[in-house]
Amino acid sequence: MLKDLVRQNRSYRRFEQQVPISLDTLRSLVELARLSASGANLQPLKYVLVTDPDACAEVFPHLGWAGYLKDWSGPEEGERPAAYILILGDREIRKEFGVDHGIAAQSIMLGAAELGLGGCMIASINRQVLRTSLSIPEHLEILLCLALGKPQEMVVIEPVGPDGDIRYYRDTGGIHHVPKRSLDELIWKSI
Ligand SMILES: Cc1cc2nc3c(=O)[nH]c(=O)nc-3n(C[C@H](O)[C@H](O)[C@H](O)COP(=O)(O)O)c2cc1C
Repeated sequence: MLKDLVRQNRSYRRFEQQVPISLDTLRSLVELARLSASGANLQPLKYVLVTDPDACAEVFPHLGWAGYLKDWSGPEEGERPAAYILILGDREIRKEFGVDHGIAAQSIMLGAAELGLGGCMIASINRQVLRTSLSIPEHLEILLCLALGKPQEMVVIEPVGPDGDIRYYRDTGGIHHVPKRSLDELIWKSI
């Protein structure tokens, strides 16, 4: 079951924008992050939940999409995320956030996948402009943005080819391909 969920939990970048995601749904996803591990149990992460279409339109332009897809600048109007969860680090609690936000993000994305939703973790963020736009105070560091929605694209995993190229690509049918290294390549040593 978990393996199925992890396989299903791909990065999606095109959505049925008109399908809304409720604030309650986002709260239930952050609840999964709340229950997750945190270094020294300091729990320094804070969240901004964005569901209002006007607020979504404010977040969208500050995100960078799919750097490897050179001829695609991101989802068009109509296929954009219906919601966002911004993960912030509270510097009044801790100066460095280690891997806390990665763990939180994965819990949230797996929860979204279980609900039939999908999304993309986005670290390519125009942070200063977004901070101003959403009036986020300086002590809250913008760590990650999770774009969420009902996926409207097919994403498949495939083995990395002999050329070793790990860049994802979109084929002529619009299917997004994600090369993954083999298990044997990852396991450097078994002792
Ligand atoms: C920490 C992190 C930051 C990422 N930042 C971006 C980003 O800024 N823009 C984007 O389109 N995808 C981003 N991604 C998504 C990756 O490109 C994606 O995980 C990778 O291509 C593998 O695809 P998969 O998630 O379907 O396995 C990010 C992923 C992670 C884990």
